[in-house]
Amino acid sequence: MPKIFDREIDRHNSDSIKWNLYDKDILPMWVADMDYASPPGVLQALHSRIEHGVFGYAGDPKELRQVIVNRLIEKYNWQIKAEDIVFTPGVVVGFNIAAHAVTEPEGALLIQPPVYPPFFKTAGYAGLRNLENPLVQDENGVYGIDFSDLEEKISQQTKLFLLCNPHNPVGRVFSREELERIVEICLRNDVIVCSDEIHCDLVYHGFKHLPLASLDPEIAQKTITLMAPSKTYNIAGLDCSFAVIQNKDLRDQYNKAMKGITGNTNMLGITAAIAAYQSGQPWLEDLMIYLEENRNHLKATIERDMPQIRMNSPEGTYLAWLDCRYAGLTENPYDFFLKKALVAFNNGESFGAQGKGFVRMNFGCTKAKLNEALERMKKALDKISG
Ligand SMILES: Cc1ncc(COP(=O)(O)O)c(C=O)c1O
Repeated sequence: MPKIFDREIDRHNSDSIKWNLYDKDILPMWVADMDYASPPGVLQALHSRIEHGVFGYAGDPKELRQVIVNRLIEKYNWQIKAEDIVFTPGVVVGFNIAAHAVTEPEGALLIQPPVYPPFFKTAGYAGLRNLENPLVQDENGVYGIDFSDLEEKISQQTKLFLLCNPHNPVGRVFSREELERIVEICLRNDVIVCSDEIHCDLVYHGFKHLPLASLDPEIAQKTITLMAPSKTYNIAGLDCSFAVIQNKDLRDQYNKAMKGITGNTNMLGITAAIAAYQSGQPWLEDLMIYLEENRNHLKATIERDMPQIRMNSPEGTYLAWLDCRYAGLTENPYDFFLKKALVAFNNGESFGAQGKGFVRMNFGCTKAKLNEALERMKKALDKISG
């Protein structure tokens, strides 16, 4: 078992939102960053950059462009050009720019709730209408796409389909078959897709991430793909992410929507991103072993000790979507666990109406912390069941 991920690092005095939002007696299992130090190669590269001592404006990160081109061909056999990449200070910024780039009066933006909360605000910011194509659960509770509803909704003046794959919070890594159906529907309805693939590297055994744009040259012309090293290598605070837009006209529209709003990329973010992509693979492989153990342990413990909560094994991400609807709680499970267990989750309701009765749990933490959270949850639940 890789030991580096067992190291406890006190994050209280590090400007961390995760560790500072709540009082110190609350265990934070919410916002999607991990409690692990970044890969050694990233830390070394940042140290050398800091030693240099001068942090003036960054120019176009040419080396990072090439590193990304190489990575996409190696990982996905997806050939892009260096100029197809547009850097953004974050993926949320990235999808909001996408909406501004394609907005039209009466146009709509389609999302698939329950989904990452900022997705709900994007339409409104850009003057679009929100359309929802909720995911549906099968008899085992596994989420999937309701394609007939998607067909119907997408035809209603949809200008942008904001896809989340791997999906936060339900943890699905959409299959080739599902993605091909999405491609077919979007092409037939002439819809631009903004595919948020920020969790693309965090995929478990038995699953494979497929960038939507890599599936078909036609959909590549209609897709804005958003990726970043931020979740994977735990460098979200360094604000370096990117969009891949192979269609020049769409890219021009995107760049135009950015003008005067976002500027140069963060200098340290560039350094960290290059080092992460060039030297972080062994660390990432160890990380995935650790996260998979956490995921399996979490699921097994819930099934054994708290069967009133239901959880599907996420196929990707370090996020678990806990169904507490049958736990006999008289209050929102987020409030219950915060007050009675002193554990902070994300409130399921912030992921849309479909999240009522759910919480999202971040298990990107040490095993000791995960066990502490599980013990606190069990104690609180045991109290109400007498
Ligand atoms: C699907 C998804 N997109 C975007 C983000 C945030 O990206 P950024 O911090 O780069 O804006 C997250 C963070 O949890 C996420 O889960």
